[in-house]
Amino acid sequence: MNKKTLEDFQVSGQKVLVRVDFNVPLNKERQITDDNRILGALPTIQYLLKQNAKVILMSHLGRPSGAGFEADFSMAPVAKRLGELLNLEVKLANDVIGDHAKSLVEGIQEGEVVLLENLRFHKAETKNDPEFAKALASFGDLYINDAFGTAHRAHASTEGVAHYLPAAAGYLMQKELDILGGALDNPAHPFVAILGGAKVSDKIGVIQNLIDKVDTLIIGGGMAYTFFKAKGYEIGKSLLEEDKVELAFELMEQAKAKGVNMLLPVDTVVASEFKADADHKTVHSNEMPEDWMGMDIGPESMKEFKDAIVNAKLVVWNGPMGVFEMPEFAKGTEAIADYMSQCQGITIIGGGDSAAAVSQLGYADKMTHISTGGGASLEFLEGIELPGVAALNDKD
Ligand code: 3PG
Repeated sequence: MNKKTLEDFQVSGQKVLVRVDFNVPLNKERQITDDNRILGALPTIQYLLKQNAKVILMSHLGRPSGAGFEADFSMAPVAKRLGELLNLEVKLANDVIGDHAKSLVEGIQEGEVVLLENLRFHKAETKNDPEFAKALASFGDLYINDAFGTAHRAHASTEGVAHYLPAAAGYLMQKELDILGGALDNPAHPFVAILGGAKVSDKIGVIQNLIDKVDTLIIGGGMAYTFFKAKGYEIGKSLLEEDKVELAFELMEQAKAKGVNMLLPVDTVVASEFKADADHKTVHSNEMPEDWMGMDIGPESMKEFKDAIVNAKLVVWNGPMGVFEMPEFAKGTEAIADYMSQCQGITIIGGGDSAAAVSQLGYADKMTHISTGGGASLEFLEGIELPGVAALNDKD
């Protein structure tokens, strides 16, 4: 990575303003259901505390309206969980740049942690308003961005603030960029990319960027049906992006011309309706009944995908193979997680739903890396420079 990191600065006794991505999922009782993003930020926070820095953390949580404090989006559950993990009191400000935040930051001592309230209580955050960025910058002597998951957003706390303070990457940011960047810049072969999820349109950039690098490209999930349509198959009531059929055809042609082994599911689990307990059966992908819809990949496809995955030296996966929130149609996604856990090569999960699936299934510690970024890892895989990274200071 060509950006400065926290170790390039003297942090002892300094007020260090750290952007973290604590945008974690919460249930109805506002309990955190997956704390991986908090765990991911611990190395940076613990390093700063050990160096006797004064740590001021800031994050967004969800998508509040931006018109001020909303209890449903408060950082309170995060402050509690972080305090438990650090075994330390995390002082939560009840505002972002208001009087309470200012007084907590003024009074902060070495080895203490203050967490600001949800940055998105201010519209100015997502607008990357310079005055708001300056107000945030006034809290620190130094800015560390450890929020890889939000690095694709050019917001005040991820981009704007870096213009007003010395700015460097934290350990999580560094790790994400090194692993994902290393995979793309210097891939081990055979390199297999597995792309799923509902829409082709979400993955076009990734396919285009990876098609020159991969040996095998596996396509599953709802997006596969647009490819089926391009092949002239009947797809019944399956998901279809009509305006992407031609593009799907071109991508298949490109793969052929470049010698990329593009694997589409040879069989499909179809259901009579979009319901967890719907009637379902497995059919050849070119024999989908008119009134049914594709919900998952079938066992023959799994077998084919398995061969490619377990023998790969590098596998990158983004997007589920089917409607994995319905147990009957989660088998394809579960199988991919299982095959990746058997692969001896480098295994990278590109965030979002696939990361959640791998964690839920208990395979997390069998993967080389599970990215904490959904949208961010996708944009990175597309080859786009992330604004939150671009704004950091270059190495001398
Ligand atoms: C994410 O969960 O992808 C990041 O935290 C960014 O959140 P956003 O999509 O609301 O900007």
